[in-house]
Parts: sequence; structure tokens; C-alpha cells
Amino acid sequence: IYDRRNPGSGGETHQRAEGDTPVLTTQQGVPVADDQNTLKVGPRGPSLIEDFHFREKLFHFDHERIPERVVHARGFGVRGYFETTQSLADVTRADLFQRVGEKTEVFVRFSTVAGNKGSFDLARDVRGFAVKFYTKEGNWDLVGNNIPVFFIQDAIKFPDVVHAAKQAPDRDFPQAQTAHDNFWDFITLTPESMHMIMWTMSDRAIPRSFRFMEGFGVHTFRFIDAQGRSSFVKFHWKPKLGLQSVLWNEAVKINGADPDFHRRDLWDAIKLGDPPEWELGVQVFDDAFADSFPFDILDPTKLIPEELVPIRIVGRLVLDQTVDNFFAETEQVAFCTQNVVPGIGFTNDPLLQGRNFSYLDTQLKRLGSPNFTHIPVNAPRCPVMNFQQDGHMAMRNPVGRVNYEPNSWGGPRECPTRGYPHFPAAEAGEMRQVRSESFADHYSQARQFYLSQLPVEQKHIGDALVFELSKCERPDIRARMVAHLRNIDEGLAARVANGLGLAAIPEALPPARPVVADLAP
Ligand code: HEM
Repeated sequence: IYDRRNPGSGGETHQRAEGDTPVLTTQQGVPVADDQNTLKVGPRGPSLIEDFHFREKLFHFDHERIPERVVHARGFGVRGYFETTQSLADVTRADLFQRVGEKTEVFVRFSTVAGNKGSFDLARDVRGFAVKFYTKEGNWDLVGNNIPVFFIQDAIKFPDVVHAAKQAPDRDFPQAQTAHDNFWDFITLTPESMHMIMWTMSDRAIPRSFRFMEGFGVHTFRFIDAQGRSSFVKFHWKPKLGLQSVLWNEAVKINGADPDFHRRDLWDAIKLGDPPEWELGVQVFDDAFADSFPFDILDPTKLIPEELVPIRIVGRLVLDQTVDNFFAETEQVAFCTQNVVPGIGFTNDPLLQGRNFSYLDTQLKRLGSPNFTHIPVNAPRCPVMNFQQDGHMAMRNPVGRVNYEPNSWGGPRECPTRGYPHFPAAEAGEMRQVRSESFADHYSQARQFYLSQLPVEQKHIGDALVFELSKCERPDIRARMVAHLRNIDEGLAARVANGLGLAAIPEALPPARPVVADLAP
């Protein structure tokens, strides 16, 4: 009889537990005698349902997959720490920013937005830059991107921009690139996206590696100090290595030769003892500045120039540890904009308010249980005490008889002084659905960004637009984009029209608001 369990009977290499080698067990901890053969009747007979090890092994394998993220599916997570280098006690009571030298453990996941989990790293795309701070007062997630503005102003358009950017429903392509009719159709019908489009057609969208990228919180958030006073804040990550990108031709080759180029780069840098580092900067400003700024600070398609509100560097981020297990950490990590700590709050940015709903909602589906905060990568490092209980996979149920409040038994209680203070912003107004007039200028900052670029960078933007738009089958969509570009820069519009071989330059689309001509680049 050919017996794979008997060394020598068939020349197999057997790996048996001997000496210090641990014994393989089932999920129930039962030691396994044979991991090579299903239990059968006779040498060629039927397999037996009695073989619990075989059935458990296949059952578990059959259920390995979970849904990939609906956006930012392809990502790479690493661990590290954040060190406060300047106290922010003057503007926020957030505990992690009080003491110089304080270190806070972090988990960071970098990602592309549009591609599926198995897509390639050097797509022309926005990069996610999500940071989970495990602070002493709970988890704070700064869920940012490598571009400081966004495509849309209102969360109700998010499903549309994502549908348009990902695979078309009939043909299931493209993925991880922006070049197709649906995307450009949506973009050219959505003038608010023009500023972001300038950034995504720039070198920023093909970074050399994650280590050479900036990061931005994008929205205006609030800081709240110990006296309950609020100021506005924008968050910035500045890479110590500076900014670097590849050329499009290089990106195409790298994607073919090594689709994992960015994750390998980060992995190698950490393993070789060269951990990447970023500075955290904040732009803090008050109501008076907000009122004087020519754009609405709630509009996520606008940035606040550093010349107007200088960036204050307050800390450093060091990413010095790779994960032990990709699935356990990188796949199961759940970031959410509504994960904030005392001292950090929201504004009425309509995109931010929609995000605050969306992340938790999607994660219930993706991770399958309201208890995903019990997974180690998501669990706070500070005590968690409440009366929430049960649900799938509950690991952290209340101990003892009490699971309600108020009660006469004891247990955790609310604390008005130490608890999270929602900022009591004065709100008024009638229910309405129209977009605020203050959000209506879609071209000025697009132009400002374009003009701030070096000539070679401007050329790259023009080349990228020609390349991507040349993938559009419909001439009217190409022409519509050129009509927008005329409001941004006539030279760029002419260059793109020429590159696309348009017979004539189309009329400029009338802007909803005059472009602010005198913005300093
Ligand atoms: C991931 C929704 C805008 C950055 C996600 C996910 C959803 C989502 C559903 C998947 C989350 C998961 O499965 O764990 C939205 C909505 C938006 C929006 C509804 C607008 C209304 C933005 C903006 C940024 C951003 C403006 C950047 C500032 C990210 C990042 C991730 C992500 C970095 C990946 C997080 C990770 O690595 O796990 N978003 N998003 N999103 N989003 Fe957004």
C-alpha cells in the first residue's frame, strides 16, 4: 500500500512534530495525526464524513474571503508612533497634543482609491493616507488623502463619482485608472471637481513611493480647548524625504514589472532599518479669518494657502514596524472620520458629515459584526467600559450581573468634565437643499494650482490630460473638458485641444461665478 504517512513508502518528504516543533491542532485544539490524507475506507475507497479535521479545514478555507473595501481596496498597513514636538494646549484639549515628547502608538494604511484589491500600485490615482492614533482618551482616526482637496462638495455625490471612476457595469473595466468615458463624463458635468482634477493629473498622482507623499485631512475640523473655545484646523503630513514622483512612462513599466512596487518599497525601508518619517502640521484659524477668506472653509474642494495661514509643525510620525499578519491588521483595520477624541471636533462640511455616516455603515458589512472594535488592530489601547453586549463574535461583554445604567450595582458612569465635549455651535436656518452660493467658484483654485507648478510639471499635467482624454470615445466629452480648461488656463486648454486633435477650440463654459484673477500662485 502506498502510504504517505510512512516515510520511505513513497519517497515523500514528511514534516513531523519532533523535539520542539509544535503539534498541529484543529481549531478545537485537538492534535492532528495526519494532514496529508482524508480518512477513507480502504486505499481507494470513499472519504468519510467522520474526518472532522478535513471538514473543519475545508470549511474554514471556504470562508476565508471578506468583501474588499468599496473604495481604497488596495492598501498597505504599517505600525509606528506619533511624537508630539510642540504642545497644542493653547488650542486643543486633545490629550495626545498636550505634552512635548509624548509618544502615541499608531497604525497607518496607505492605499489607492479606484483599483480593486489585486490591482497595481502605480495607477494614476489619489492615495489614501489613513492614520489611527491609539490615544489615552480613545482612538482618533485622521482618514486623509495625499491631495488636499476632493472631487465633490457634498456626500450625496460620492456614490456617483466612485461608480464613474471604477469599472463600468457592463464591461467591468477599467480599474485603477481614470481614463474612460464614464469618469470624464461625470467630471466634465461636475465643475466642482476641476480643482481636484488638476491635482490628479499632476505628478502627485504617481508618487515614487508612499514615503515621498504628503498627506492631508482635507476637511476643516475643529479644535476645542480646555475652556470650551473652538478654532478651525486643517491637518497636513509632510514627508521628511520630500516629495518625489515618477514619470508616466516609468509608472507604466513599473506596473508591468512589479505591481507591488509601493508596498515592497515600504516593507524594505522598514526591514532595512530606514523607517520613513513625516511631520504633522496644523493650520489653525478663527472665525475672523474664515469670514475674510474668499472661499468657504466648509468647501472641501478648496484649500487654505500656507502663505495665508502658515503651517505649525507639532509632531512627527515614524513608521518603523511591519505588520505580523496582513489580513489581521491591514485588511481588518477600520478607520472612520467620526472616531475623534476630546478636543477634536467636526464642522458642517457636507462631505465630512456624510463620511461620518458612511465608514461605520460599510464596515458592518465588510467585517460582518458590530464587534469589529474587538479586533486587536481596532481596539483602543485605553480601557473600554460600557454596557454594550453580545452580537456576532463578542469578545468584550460586561462582566458580572449589570448591563444597564442607571443601576444600583456600580460600574462605569458618564463624566461631564472628562467626557467628549460636542462643540455647541450656534446653528440656524430653514431646511433647504440647494448648494450654498459660497461654494460656487470652481476654477480659481484650479488655476492657482496650475500656475504654481513648474513649467515641466505643467507639461506633465497637459500630457496627462491628453493621454487620459484620448481614451474617451465620445468627442463631446473631450471638448467639454477643454471648455472647462479655458476657465483655468488658456495655454493649457490650447495644448490639450491640440494634443487631442480637436478641429476647433470650444467655447469656454460659463463659470457660475467669476474666476478670482488675482490669486497669488
Ligand atoms: C475608505 C466613503 C471621501 C479617504 C472609504 C470607505 C468608504 C468611504 C465607504 C471604505 C471604508 C472601509 O471599508 O473600511 C467615503 C465617502 C466620502 C469619502 C462617503 C465622501 C462623502 C473621502 C475623502 C477622503 C477619504 C475626502 C480623504 C480626505 C479615505 C481613505 C480610505 C477611505 C484613506 C481608506 C481607509 C483605509 O485605509 O482603510 N471611504 N469617503 N475618503 N476613504 Fe473615504
